[in-house]
Amino acid sequence: MKVFMTGASGYIGGAVALKLLAAGHSVTGLARNREKADGLARLGATPVLGTLDDIETIEYAARGADAVINLASTNHPVSARTIVAALAGSGKPYIHTSGSSIVADNAGGEASEAVYSEDTPFVPLADRAGWFSVERQIVLPAARQGVRSVVLTPCMIYGDGPGLNRDSMQVPMMIRTAREWGVAGHVGPGRNVWSNVHLDDCADIYLLALERAPAGSLFFVESGEAALGDIAAAINRKLGFGNATKSLSLPEAMRAWGPNMALSFGSNSRIDATKARAMLGWKPKGPSLFEVLAS
Ligand SMILES: NC(=O)c1ccc[n+]([C@@H]2O[C@H](COP(=O)([O-])OP(=O)(O)OC[C@H]3O[C@@H](n4cnc5c(N)ncnc54)[C@H](OP(=O)(O)O)[C@@H]3O)[C@@H](O)[C@H]2O)c1
Repeated sequence: MKVFMTGASGYIGGAVALKLLAAGHSVTGLARNREKADGLARLGATPVLGTLDDIETIEYAARGADAVINLASTNHPVSARTIVAALAGSGKPYIHTSGSSIVADNAGGEASEAVYSEDTPFVPLADRAGWFSVERQIVLPAARQGVRSVVLTPCMIYGDGPGLNRDSMQVPMMIRTAREWGVAGHVGPGRNVWSNVHLDDCADIYLLALERAPAGSLFFVESGEAALGDIAAAINRKLGFGNATKSLSLPEAMRAWGPNMALSFGSNSRIDATKARAMLGWKPKGPSLFEVLAS
């Protein structure tokens, strides 16, 4: 297949692009500048210069492809609408990436029993309402316009990226600040839990979805979970910082990590990927987050 990707120069996008190429697909990747374009070419992809706001470029590239994968933004309605319009009536796949933050709470580091599957009703926090609207109002309904639209919702992804961006978001940020402070931090008591998944397993599901996911389908993507306080303790061990972790109040966390990441680090975001295993035949292999942090 000829696949047009946004975000191929990113952490998840690099892993997906390399798997697509290894499986014999061709990849055209949107690149924001010449340096990223050259990087994509080195990976084996064909770069197209532009951003998500360049709707003519997006439309042209999407029309010329057999499938489109968005790994650049969970929350860019204009590009999502442009891709849907370009693929309308073709039956071609459009795989959109969301994130398990859509089910996150504002727990300030406290635990929650809530675990979400694809059909569990919920109301996203205001901070994530845009992501939710793009997937529910634009991407999933595109199935009724003859697009094989699919939403994949990964959680906390870990493991080194094989592409141009080697680092994920949350765990590398916790490691960076732990190095600065001499101790790993978490919000409040750190009993809040996030689902997680290894990058390689996460990338596999994009290829499976390309082959097998039906139109208008949504899949949560996880293969384990961990409390943020336990992740901080594992980072301490990795860096040789002893047992005591640092508890931050929400305002302290906002100053340290920025408001968006502080909210994320204090929240629970627990999802269940039983559907992806059953319908797509997805078999995550790990290693687990704690195995990676111990290595
Ligand atoms: N990492 C995780 O744990 C995780 C989990 C769940 C969901 N997600 C979501 O998955 C998506 C990809 O995540 P990631 O970790 O791979 O992020 P990343 O490494 O920052 O990659 C983002 C990619 O999108 C491109 N991009 C961003 N804004 C763009 C724009 N306006 N126009 C064109 N290209 C643009 C970036 O281009 P440049 O190379 O030029 O910066 C890069 O290729 C994000 O939407 C993220 O919220 C991530």
